Amino acid sequence: MKTSVTSIFEIDIPIVQGGLAHLAFAGLCAAVSNAGGLGQISAVTIPGGSEALRDEIRAVRALTDRPFAVNFAISTRRDIMDLVETALAEDVRIMSFTAGNPEPFLKRLEGTGVKTLILVAGVRQAQKVEELGGSAVIAVGYDGGGHLGRDDIGTMVLVPRILESVSIPVLASGGIGNGRGLAAALAMGAGGVEMAPASLLPPNASRTTTINRRS
Ligand SMILES: Cc1cc2nc3c(=O)[nH]c(=O)nc-3n(C[C@H](O)[C@H](O)[C@H](O)COP(=O)(O)O)c2cc1C
Repeated sequence: MKTSVTSIFEIDIPIVQGGLAHLAFAGLCAAVSNAGGLGQISAVTIPGGSEALRDEIRAVRALTDRPFAVNFAISTRRDIMDLVETALAEDVRIMSFTAGNPEPFLKRLEGTGVKTLILVAGVRQAQKVEELGGSAVIAVGYDGGGHLGRDDIGTMVLVPRILESVSIPVLASGGIGNGRGLAAALAMGAGGVEMAPASLLPPNASRTTTINRRS
């Protein structure tokens, strides 16, 4: 499958695993990336500072040679720029940002070739990301778990509005739990989807089984 999202992030399937604070460690991230999607580790809830993040990045690389991302929930810690520097030093090629103003981080990453994914909950935020040079936006509707936006707009309404407002790739997120949701998102014109709790389920698993494990 080829979409704007598979092309930009060099993945086979246009599915990005959600950042998932407290859940997205190396094991989950590598499982998603090995399956052809884009796995992520959540930098801010890896216990410890820069060294712990460095170790987790290396743990991902021990488990997969596929593309993966490091996710930063901006407002949750004061040392986000230090963590971004660590990810840069470890040559992480894709970073995602949520829960705060991505501007300083997008400026820092200018000219580095790092691809960025920014979670947005409204048209204005998406346009700002495009202006600042972000590579793609994840449009997270009110249906999403852990939703941080102020606009109480569901995914089916938000995604088309954002697609009409920016020309960078748009991923749909919020309430997408299976292939039918992915098909619906692609039909709307999105380049792919972000899935959060759904990405914790191994194929054919019962709804209560997860593959999340620290490496
Ligand atoms: C428990 C939980 C923790 C989350 N933590 C993060 C996070 O740290 N970073 C992030 O970008 N998104 C985080 N999210 C949001 C998801 O990545 C995603 O945008 C949203 O959950 C998508 O909707 P869905 O839950 O319906 O799949 C979290 C979501 C949940 C449910």
